[in-house]
Order: sequence, then structure tokens, then C-alpha cells
Amino acid sequence: MRRTAWSAAALLLPLTACRVSYSALDTASPEATRITNLHWLVLWVTGAVSFVLITALAIGLTRRRTAETREGYRRRTWAVAAAAFLSTLVLLGLLTASVLAGRAVATPVGPDALRIQVVGHQWWWEVSYPSEPPSETVITANEIHVPVGRPVLLELSSTDVIHSFWVPNLNGKKDLIPGRPTRHLLRPERTGVFEGRCAEFCGYQHAHMGFLLIAEEPDRFEAWLASERRPAAEPSDAAGNHGREVFLSSACVLCHTTQGIGAFGHKAPDLTHLASRRMIASATLPNTAGYLAGWVVNSQHIKPGNHMPPNLLPAEDLLDLVSYLRSLQ
Ligand code: CUA
Repeated sequence: MRRTAWSAAALLLPLTACRVSYSALDTASPEATRITNLHWLVLWVTGAVSFVLITALAIGLTRRRTAETREGYRRRTWAVAAAAFLSTLVLLGLLTASVLAGRAVATPVGPDALRIQVVGHQWWWEVSYPSEPPSETVITANEIHVPVGRPVLLELSSTDVIHSFWVPNLNGKKDLIPGRPTRHLLRPERTGVFEGRCAEFCGYQHAHMGFLLIAEEPDRFEAWLASERRPAAEPSDAAGNHGREVFLSSACVLCHTTQGIGAFGHKAPDLTHLASRRMIASATLPNTAGYLAGWVVNSQHIKPGNHMPPNLLPAEDLLDLVSYLRSLQ
């Protein structure tokens, strides 16, 4: 019994240490606050209107019918006109609030904004931090790091079908339409790990097209960016060396890039710093050796229809390959 309790505590510890928030009500930016305020305004106003209507209906239904008089007819006409006028006023008020909120969340940003390119693929997110010289560009997947206190301008595009980028804690949704690049503003006000999702049905694995957005202090962000600029780590032991050989001699390199070792595929997530990411499979599974091995052997069991074929490797090759991938910090 005691052992079970300890195991449960050990499992819960990492979860409490890193709380991932996914809620439009737990706002972390001025844009999200604006949208949430609009949500409450519409909810309260429509709630009040519903209450008034239901009360009026109940009074009307329970009143005793009396003979029609000229005076009664005139009163009813006035009541209907007043109700129509009030409804128009309320609708105009809500429309104005909605337009103002829409303008506020599309604030133009200055040249100091951090530019990040995000490309939607079926069913994962490619993330790049363009840099000068271009060799310093950082490319990663399904995990977006941003600094707090500096506007972030996302340049969004899609290579296949319509996706939609959504981090509820930070801003509204933005559709990614193939052939029509678009922009989206994020201004995180506090550090935290926020979950993002694709919010437009885009095929079989739409529900598993998530990502993490990590808002951190500027110095931590810069340290992360500098670390991601390095080429892939050298294996430190025989298992890692053998794992790298397995990687380079398998079909992995046709789709994945690993900077510095001669793997330049561009169809699938960049693996140069795979081990630095918290999740795999577009924020579907924790990034642990067990899940990674399961994904390599047959990802079709986890995300059926994704573009990675099964890899039936001998057990030793698989273990060494996973050991190598786990070393890519
Ligand atoms: Cu991409 Cu739904």
C-alpha cells in the first residue's frame, strides 16, 4: 500500500512541477483578457435578456384573458415598439464591443517584435526562428519558446490543408490557409507552459495536432535559443555511436533533419534537439525512452494515418537508436 502511494506521488511530482494551462479564462496576455472580457459581457447580457424574456412569457401565459379594448391595443403596440428598440440597442452595443475587441487583438507591432515562422503540416507544427546569418536559424517542432515582455509576431502558413493556430491563454484562433500566409500576435505577460491546438478539422489526426508554448524570462529564452543553434550532440558512448549508425543507415534520414551529421530530410520534424523537447508526436506523449521506442517501432498504433512508416528494427538496434535520440539535447 505504502509503495503504491509513493509511486503515485512520484508520478504526480513532475506533473505539479510543470503545470500546463489550456484555458481561455486563465488569461496571460492583453489580447486574451480582451477576448475573455467580451465573452463575459456577451454571456451576462444574453443571460439578462433571456431572463427578461422568460419572465415576460410566464406573465403573459398566466394572465387571465380580458376583452380587447382600444386602450389595451395601444399599450401593446407601444410595448412591442419599445422592445424592438431596446433589442436593436443591445445588439448594436454587442456589435460595437465585438468590433473594438477584434481591433484590439490585431494591434500592429513594431520592428522590435520577435519573428517566428510556424508552418502547419498534417499533423504537426514546424517552428523556425529566422536569423542573420541564415546558418543561425533555429528549426524545431511542436514546441514554441517565447520571451515574456516582448511582442511575438508569428508568420503562419500551411503546406497542405487548412489548419488553425490556437493558444487559448494568449489570443484567439488564426486560420492557416494554404497559399495565404498570415500573421498573428502574441504578447505573453507572465511565464508559463501553455497548450496550443489545431482548431480547424484537418484530417484523421486533427485531434492529435497539439503543441506547447513556453513563455519564459528573456535570459532563459536566449539561453534556449543559443543551445538550439548548436549542431547535434556527439554520442558519448558505444551505444550512442551505434545508435547514430542505425539512424544514418535507416529510412529516418529521408524525412528528418539532424544538423551536423548529414541528415537533411524536410518532410518531418527536425530532430537536432529532440531530447530537449518535453513531448513527442505533437504534444501527444511525454518525451520518455519508452514512448519514443514505441513511436519508432510503430507510430501507426499511436497516431494512425501519420506519415511515418513502422520500423521493425532488431531489439539491440532499437535500444541504441533510442539511446542516441535521447542524447540529442
Ligand atoms: Cu491541423 Cu486540425
